[in-house]
Amino acid sequence: MDYKQQVSQAVNKAIDNEISVEDIYSKIERPKTSEMGDLAFPAFALAKVLRKAPQQIALDIVDKIEKDSFEKVVAVGPYVNFFLDKSLFSNNVIKSVLTDGSNYGANNDGKAGNVTIDMSSPNIAKPISMGHLRSTVIGNSIANILTKNGYHPIKDNHLGDWGTQFGKLITAYLKWGNEEDVKKDPINYLVKYYVKFHKLDKENPELDDIARDWFKKLENGNEEAIKLWKWFREVSIEAFDKIYDKLGVKFDTYNGEAFYNDKMQEVIDILNGKGLLSKSQGATIVDLDKYDLNPALILKSDGASLYITRDIATALYRDRTYNPAMNLYVVGSEQTYYFKQLKAVLKEMGVPSAEHLYHVPFGLITVNGKKLSTRSGRIILLDEVLNDSIEIAKKQIEEKNPSLPNKEEVANEVGVGAIVFGDLKNEKINNIDFVLEDQLRFEGETGPYVQYSHARAESILRKAGKTDFSGDESYKLNDVESWDTSKLLNDFPNIIKMACKELEPSVVAKYSLRLAKSFNKYYAHSKILADDSELNARLALVKSVSIVLKESLRLLGVKAPDAM
Ligand code: ARG
Repeated sequence: MDYKQQVSQAVNKAIDNEISVEDIYSKIERPKTSEMGDLAFPAFALAKVLRKAPQQIALDIVDKIEKDSFEKVVAVGPYVNFFLDKSLFSNNVIKSVLTDGSNYGANNDGKAGNVTIDMSSPNIAKPISMGHLRSTVIGNSIANILTKNGYHPIKDNHLGDWGTQFGKLITAYLKWGNEEDVKKDPINYLVKYYVKFHKLDKENPELDDIARDWFKKLENGNEEAIKLWKWFREVSIEAFDKIYDKLGVKFDTYNGEAFYNDKMQEVIDILNGKGLLSKSQGATIVDLDKYDLNPALILKSDGASLYITRDIATALYRDRTYNPAMNLYVVGSEQTYYFKQLKAVLKEMGVPSAEHLYHVPFGLITVNGKKLSTRSGRIILLDEVLNDSIEIAKKQIEEKNPSLPNKEEVANEVGVGAIVFGDLKNEKINNIDFVLEDQLRFEGETGPYVQYSHARAESILRKAGKTDFSGDESYKLNDVESWDTSKLLNDFPNIIKMACKELEPSVVAKYSLRLAKSFNKYYAHSKILADDSELNARLALVKSVSIVLKESLRLLGVKAPDAM
């Protein structure tokens, strides 16, 4: 229910339509605290039109307005403050939540339009970095939010499984590698070979020539090259999948860069046909002067394709396969310039979805102050961070609730949830430093805090022996303690829309923190289980909180255990 609309209409009527309902709607504010009112109209917005002092206008409005549907309407200086009818309001919102269940807040704005989401996209033979983790969890949450808004997301893991680095890797493996080691601990050893290559190639430039040769062989389908490449790819994906399993993230497609190898010639042909290609120092480029961008390098002087060549083929393929309403790239902000170039080239080519191509950037992440880099060898493996987090969660559960039956499972959900939530509560673009212990606190702005609040709601319901609620009963609450919680529940559908519009999971995460906080305050200040006539309504509110917290966490990709 949109109470802002109700207030706007009432004001519009009281001022004889001097300004439109929409105009009024856009000016309605929310007072800082519920004690001052639930919604406020600033009367100075009318001072010019009515040529009167705002204070007087506020008094006039209060005088004329129909007050029946409100608890009270008062003028405070230049403001008209509205107090909503708590009983009506709580009854409406609780009924909506209980009737819709986990579907509460859903809308059909997306009209089933496809949205391709390029996400995670780690590179073969390298560990998943924290940057890839951010892309994975942000992309996953954006997909959930899009679905809730009626879109149809397609999650594509655009693996970095092609490029000159495979020439280097093959060279390094054939020189220093051995099969047993790679089988034992694939990513670790493959990285070692790669790092060694980079240490030695400065003094031994012939290494680069050999590597270039191997990549050429790979592009030409040489049997040995292909065999090694396939093997590196397989063992890498196996390692990545372990992490995705832990995070509970699934993809619709794993079309890595190599998938587009046979689609590259067409790209060149189209670019050629449109007269967009030119030569520069032997290389083939697309000039982007008109966009105020550096030229895009399409083919190296030896004819080898590049990252962007494969991305052009990818966008073309997505266009034809999905006709996407949006084509999103959840990739770190260090590639912002690159995506501008990509979009510009696609526009020049006339790819229809180029207009709806959006780079969804995010900031850097460090763990305990340490940056991640594969080449320097200072690697923090994501897997280790996840395991550490689960360990800390285990200890906490052992301290707080040693008799919990499914401790292992809950520790997993809390440990992983802490990291995912710790990432998503920040606006994407911010740089974040993770101090693991902080993310795992049961109090403060953490995932475990929201999970704990949900488990508390469930535990109250267990204590009351009440699990089934029907939408037909009456759930009127008019106490001040529950009021903020009811209002927050009513905000949820708007939060869903806002998160989608901004492609910003932090909108949902921050909301869940507010709801958890207000619910815990309610829990502390009111006797929920007291045996009086409002018991059923209070329990229904608790159930509604549980449903909305769980659904918020689900949208973020975080589990909500019933007890912890
Ligand atoms: N593999 C790349 C990296 O790790 C990210 C790929 C992003 N997606 C894309 N279509 N370019 O930096």
